[in-house]
Amino acid sequence: MSNREAASTGSVGHNVPRAEGIDKVTGRARYVDDLVFPGMLYGRTVRSTVPCGRIRAIVRDPGFDWSGFTYVDASDIPPGGKNVVTLITEDQPYLAKDRVRHREEPIALLAHADRRRLEEGLAHIRVEYEEDEAPILDFTTSPTVLKEITIAKGDLAEGFAQAEVIVEGTYRTGHQEQLYIEPNGVIALPDGAHGAAGPGAAVTVYGSLQCPYYVVKALRGLFGLPEDRVRVVQMTTGGGFGGKEEYPSVLAGHAALLAHKAGRSVKMIYDRTEDMLATTKRHPAFVRHRTGLTRDGRLVAVDIDLMLDGGAYVTLSPVVLSRACIHATGPYRVPHVRIRGRVMMTHTPPNGAFRGFGAPQSQFAAEVQMDRIAEELGMDPVELRRKNLLRLGDATATGQVLRESVSAEEVLDRALKLHEERRRARGAGSGDGQGGQAQEGRQGMRGTGIACFLHGSGFTGGGEVRLASRAGIELTKDGVRLRVGSTEIGQGTRTMHAQIVSDAFGIPYGWVETSDPDTAAVPDSGPTVASRTCMVVGRILQRAAAKIRAELGPYQSPEEFRERARALLAARGRLVVDEQYEKPGEIQWSDETYQGDAYGAYAWGCNIADVEVDPLTYEVRCTDVTAVIDIGKAIHPLLAEGQIEGGTLQAVGWALCENVVMQGGRMANPTLTNYIIPTTLDAPRMAVEIVENPYSQGPFGAKGVGECPMDGPAAAVANAISRATGVRVTEIPATPERLMEALDQAEPGRSGR
Ligand code: MOS
Repeated sequence: MSNREAASTGSVGHNVPRAEGIDKVTGRARYVDDLVFPGMLYGRTVRSTVPCGRIRAIVRDPGFDWSGFTYVDASDIPPGGKNVVTLITEDQPYLAKDRVRHREEPIALLAHADRRRLEEGLAHIRVEYEEDEAPILDFTTSPTVLKEITIAKGDLAEGFAQAEVIVEGTYRTGHQEQLYIEPNGVIALPDGAHGAAGPGAAVTVYGSLQCPYYVVKALRGLFGLPEDRVRVVQMTTGGGFGGKEEYPSVLAGHAALLAHKAGRSVKMIYDRTEDMLATTKRHPAFVRHRTGLTRDGRLVAVDIDLMLDGGAYVTLSPVVLSRACIHATGPYRVPHVRIRGRVMMTHTPPNGAFRGFGAPQSQFAAEVQMDRIAEELGMDPVELRRKNLLRLGDATATGQVLRESVSAEEVLDRALKLHEERRRARGAGSGDGQGGQAQEGRQGMRGTGIACFLHGSGFTGGGEVRLASRAGIELTKDGVRLRVGSTEIGQGTRTMHAQIVSDAFGIPYGWVETSDPDTAAVPDSGPTVASRTCMVVGRILQRAAAKIRAELGPYQSPEEFRERARALLAARGRLVVDEQYEKPGEIQWSDETYQGDAYGAYAWGCNIADVEVDPLTYEVRCTDVTAVIDIGKAIHPLLAEGQIEGGTLQAVGWALCENVVMQGGRMANPTLTNYIIPTTLDAPRMAVEIVENPYSQGPFGAKGVGECPMDGPAAAVANAISRATGVRVTEIPATPERLMEALDQAEPGRSGR
């Protein structure tokens, strides 16, 4: 068997068993809460009860028995350390010192071996505030800009002068909670302790997290330590969706401060309510569009003003804004563009990473605007889109010329075909036969909506160059071992990386050994975010494999690979190859002008959604979604489809029911009984089709898949509701209350109230 044949019979493109699957279904997988260390304490957080103000005093009830407690506040940050979470801007303290800037902001920490006693202790700490300023709770009127970006292309005035029709629209999207099944949680070990087999780190943290090296960086800053004295181990993680991108750095710091002071291990696991109240959410957005077109529907000028609610601290908002802005024109060709984006400060808990990272917000606006335009022009929304879709050789708003792997039109065509075939198969017009929610005797109002979208894979702009991610492979006597800092958070990282590497060597998938990342053992592969883990990190692994193959020399079969590997190890003792990200030569980007190749490649998608609206209650049921997405290559088709189905449903929830109610700067519905996400019974029927238009710089042609599915469904659903009701839906979630108001506004008395 030649090497080529070995690869062609490999695992890529096949649904191999997932690498950590057996451990998960047998209960062998260990989550952070399964870990217990001798003498371990539990930690809790004293949080702000006001949205902003000066801290006058933290009072520990002198009548209470404080023995056995460890107490930490800002004055306990060790000398040489800094009370600031290391991220983009050094503004967020681990523990508020003089001022609080949002409800639930951490002020102090308390630990005790007994959880009930700990709760009692917590109840005996009182913080006194001087509420010396009025909180800013509405981002659209906030006077404080955290970050501003402008993207300009062509000549806007000239573009609008050419326009025969101008259409304006404003759009709003709400907060969204990531709602991973496992809440945030970590365990910190005291100085010098290091768990099993680790080196003598000063600070060791085990946790449920996406980005172990982000946590290392944050802990280094907090304790003023060099990298090799901080160790972070990811435990089996029950979902992330962006919600464990930056927040674990805060929580890890808290647990480590307590462990440092107590000299004991400290476990901190949020319950659902604390997690929902205190951790990051998707940024609410307010977007204005002004679009200039020719009478026959060609886009000539687009002016977009986009605002995000950043909350009280910067966190990742600048890069969320950047992705939102770059995706704001959607998958369309526009000669004259201005996109102005701002993140506004409010006295609310900071918003942060959530699947899609700004692109779902900006493309919701873009795609509802497209339907509004179609209506004003009296044009078919599909034809309007088709006329303007980006094609090979076109340039995006940042002037990126699309050189390969462009599928905007193909995914549209396939989605239309698939939707139509399925509609026919069900019997056109016969409904879905699945017992729509419109109750007996009431005919639901039905509509179908469409959305086209794209999603850049990998970090934005120069981000990947700055990250300089590393990943590697170690040769073992039985095969190879991956050295990867990327995390498995349920999406399939480990399986997909093992597939790429097994095929790169032409060895069986089972010969590739994988493990939970431990920063004492694996290099920094960058954060597990931004739809980069397959395309970017997978590519680095592929290059590491090629280097090892060069060392091994030619082999004709997996058995011969093994013989050669053993001989090489006998001669050298160990063979480890770590490779670093290399920028594909043709990518050019300028952070100064915001011009150039914003991403190496884009995933392209199209959704068609069917909805049924109850004419009395205005409840909307999304009955069917077609999702066609080009991801370059599905390394593991079943996992990729799972990503698409999950992201689609998460977006349908965002569009219809996921409603974060903020009152006085605090989430008023922080439980699963009143923050409603779609259950299996709420899920629409879905048809997923993957298109494989390869990207030359991705492993086996692969691009990103994680976030793209989140970008389109909300607009498709909103457009479908508009078709069903005759009223334009411009704000999500489209709750029954909002729909009723919109209908009454369009036609007073329509709701009959
Ligand atoms: Mo993400 S939202 O890039 O984890």
